[in-house]
Amino acid sequence: MRLVLLGPPGAGKGTQAKKLQQKFNLTHISTGDIFRANIKNKTELGQEVEKYTSAGKLVPDALTIAMLWDRLDQEKEKNFLLDGFPRTIAQADALKEGLAQRNCPLDAVLSIEVDEAVLVERLAGRRTCPQCGASYHVQDAPPKHEGICDTCGSELVQRPDDTRETVQNRIDVYRRQTEPLVAYYEKEGILFHINGNQSVDAVFDAIQAALNL
Ligand code: AP5
Ligand code: MG
Repeated sequence: MRLVLLGPPGAGKGTQAKKLQQKFNLTHISTGDIFRANIKNKTELGQEVEKYTSAGKLVPDALTIAMLWDRLDQEKEKNFLLDGFPRTIAQADALKEGLAQRNCPLDAVLSIEVDEAVLVERLAGRRTCPQCGASYHVQDAPPKHEGICDTCGSELVQRPDDTRETVQNRIDVYRRQTEPLVAYYEKEGILFHINGNQSVDAVFDAIQAALNL
């Protein structure tokens, strides 16, 4: 199974990806997570991309596409779940061409759709674990002990791009540059609309129903 999770910042792509990965044994590839790991480790790539991610702007296509193939070509099993890629028409074209060459086209694209006010609330309350990547929400999905990751015990942090101003910019960038991909994949006949305004479990059920799983 080869899937793409499409949706604005805070839609729940990462949250659903973790559940899909666990239940169906898919490799979860999040371009945002790869960029954050590089920033944390102060790699050359991390230093190059930080100015874009911290402002809520997209990293240039050439850099992002090269990184994606680098990661995807490490996979022997071609079962994967892309989270946060593609985000532009150029990225979608590159993905289509590259997967065709590798004989493994996409099966489905899930567009997780959420009201804007809900997105802003979710991101303002999100806390993440810098060690294992687990995600929490101060009200809706708090950790057992405040500020501490349930899974690995590390101290939780707020993502630097989760300030209100940057969140608004990320949503605007999504509308301008990424939302056109909904029509792109509708034309390909592989797009499923998912109502992301529901509980985490209800969204997961909607995804499985859409995929006939
Ligand atoms: P990326 O890391 O992909 O961020 P994003 O798309 O802005 O999305 P988020 O990770 O913020 O949200 P999410 O949808 O994963 O939601 P989550 O599950 O965490 O990208 C970051 C940056 O990297 C970009 O701005 C760009 O600079 C760069 N980048 C990445 N990919 C790129 C690309 N392809 N091209 C160019 N640049 C790229 O949930 C959010 C919160 O809500 C959590 O607290 C969660 O607990 C809660 N929640 C989730 N679902 C529910 C629910 N159903 N009900 C209640 N609460 C919920
Ligand atoms: Mg995410």
